[in-house]
Amino acid sequence: MRDLTSDTITEAVISTMRDTKDSRLAEIMESLVRHVHAFVRDVELTEEEWARGVDFLTRTGQMCTPTRQEFILLSDVLGVTMLVDALSNRRPAEATQNSVLGPFFRDDRPQPPDAADISGGLPGTPLFFEGRVVDREGAPVAGAAVDVWHSDAEGHYDVDVPGRVDPAMRALFRTEETGHFSFRSIRPSSYPIPGDGPVGEIMGATGRSLMRPAHVHLLIEAPGFQRVTTMLFPSDDPYLDADPVFGVKDSLVASYDTYAADSGPRRGPTDQPYTVLRHTFVLELLPAG
Ligand code: BEZ
Ligand code: FE
Repeated sequence: MRDLTSDTITEAVISTMRDTKDSRLAEIMESLVRHVHAFVRDVELTEEEWARGVDFLTRTGQMCTPTRQEFILLSDVLGVTMLVDALSNRRPAEATQNSVLGPFFRDDRPQPPDAADISGGLPGTPLFFEGRVVDREGAPVAGAAVDVWHSDAEGHYDVDVPGRVDPAMRALFRTEETGHFSFRSIRPSSYPIPGDGPVGEIMGATGRSLMRPAHVHLLIEAPGFQRVTTMLFPSDDPYLDADPVFGVKDSLVASYDTYAADSGPRRGPTDQPYTVLRHTFVLELLPAG
């Protein structure tokens, strides 16, 4: 292992790992070395570019805190998060598809009764969400845990509304015997992914927009079924075809039906125009065994 050249160094590095006991780790490390070396050869990476890359990754790590995960954001904008999901969760088209989890999920959310108002009193167009969880035969899934969370009318989550500490626009519901759950909130808005760190720099340098289409996040779990991490986007959102984290799927684009205060299925509880969002979520069984 001396006098290695650009032609021999890849095999030399791989040969140093031949005693790896974990066969999956061995497979991953060999492939990683091959692909990184191929990338360096492909672009003929200069020393200056290598140093900039090291600096970028260093600053990405330094940006991470318990509430800010810049590496996951980097994975999101490079399409790696959705690629891993696509490979790990191959579901039939009839089942509800996954999207990204994103950084704003919290497990210290309230568990209000069905139909509760979770808006936290924030201003916005009232949103009435009526959901149903079923299996692939259409039978209701009772007792499913349904986490919901979303942004306000300005695109802020409760964790980044200035001065706001209480959980708002998030809750955990349980489906009824009929598979239904419902809540009232405010209509979310499109918003930019965090752009004040290294990921924002790379997005700017590559001419990409930070704007995500508006959405309501849902995470649905029920015994015996695959967990669904998903979101529903309004069909009229201008950013549907430019999501910086590649989370939009046709089956997750929903009709956010808007009505005048004195018309439609919910006339009465509100004196302003309101939106009704209805969706049926179809769970896929866990593989047997
Ligand atoms: C979100 O939808 O909350 C989100 C997803 C990925 C990156 C940033 C935000
Ligand atoms: Fe989000």
